[in-house]
Amino acid sequence: MNKIKTEFLGAKVSSPLVLPAGVMGMSFSGLNYCVENGIGVVTSKSLTLVERSGHNGPVIAEFEGGFINAMGLCNPGIVEGLAEINEFKQHSDTPVIVSVFATNTEDFIELTNYVNKSQGDFIELNLSCPNVFDEFGIPLAASKDKVAEIVRAVKEISTIPVIAKLSPNVYNISEIALVAEAAGADALCMINTVGPGMLIDKKMVKPILSNRTGGLSGPCIKPIALRLIHEVYSKVNIPIIGTGGVTNGDDAIEMIMAGSTLIGVGTAVYYRGIEVFDKINQEMIKFMDEENYASINDLPKLEKLK
Ligand SMILES: Cc1cc2nc3c(=O)[nH]c(=O)nc-3n(C[C@H](O)[C@H](O)[C@H](O)COP(=O)(O)O)c2cc1C
Repeated sequence: MNKIKTEFLGAKVSSPLVLPAGVMGMSFSGLNYCVENGIGVVTSKSLTLVERSGHNGPVIAEFEGGFINAMGLCNPGIVEGLAEINEFKQHSDTPVIVSVFATNTEDFIELTNYVNKSQGDFIELNLSCPNVFDEFGIPLAASKDKVAEIVRAVKEISTIPVIAKLSPNVYNISEIALVAEAAGADALCMINTVGPGMLIDKKMVKPILSNRTGGLSGPCIKPIALRLIHEVYSKVNIPIIGTGGVTNGDDAIEMIMAGSTLIGVGTAVYYRGIEVFDKINQEMIKFMDEENYASINDLPKLEKLK
């Protein structure tokens, strides 16, 4: 397994695979289960200042190309969430990314103050909210000013590295990535779910999700993720956690070639079970053996776009 050991922002990781936010819930035992099955880094559910019960069900559904979800950011709130993370860290040296979500800069600052007092290794800002707008009516995820303001404010007080998680649902993701980098982000995580989309229950003649619409994840979004990661990789100088539709070792290798340092594996858990992380680790090693790469760090990247 030495072949897949790597480093991320100064932390040693046993595998480049990352559990992305929200996919395995939040509990200490859930995160631990991922570690037992070969994950390198775990991310918490996005935590808010106050607990949220999320949307009414159905909140997730499968279709041919992947999954659609509108969980509604259900989470136990920052205090309880960090207690689970602290418990996890008592038993594991696996790095933890604490994902936080807010709709304004003040709340992001308050969340950061909580995270500073926790055992979390990195803080990830979920900047993907489509329902919050800046003064010009632009959604937070697409507002360069808001993204800059939030990242700068968090970076000023955070005692741990700051990761900005970007939405693919914007006109020009590179602009947002560059603004996040300039504001001090230490790394990027991309992409969050694509959409929103909608599925229809033909017999009931109504949308399948109670929220009507939701974000797409899984295999159907991989080509979008690869394209966006490569575009952003061509522009920024900070590492990228490439996420979106990775289901097997080949997908993971493609993510690295597009420009990722680490690789998120989320929806694939629903297809291949919790063993998916070990399986992808082995599949990456098989590819490297066949192609004579001694280490994951030796894998080439696509030429940057001009
Ligand atoms: C059920 C579910 C819940 C999610 N919850 C969050 C969340 O709380 N915060 C966040 O930033 N992303 C969340 N995501 C997005 C994932 O972290 C990831 O960016 C996305 O699913 C694409 O990766 P994948 O195709 O490997 O699943 C969620 C995704 C799913 C499927």
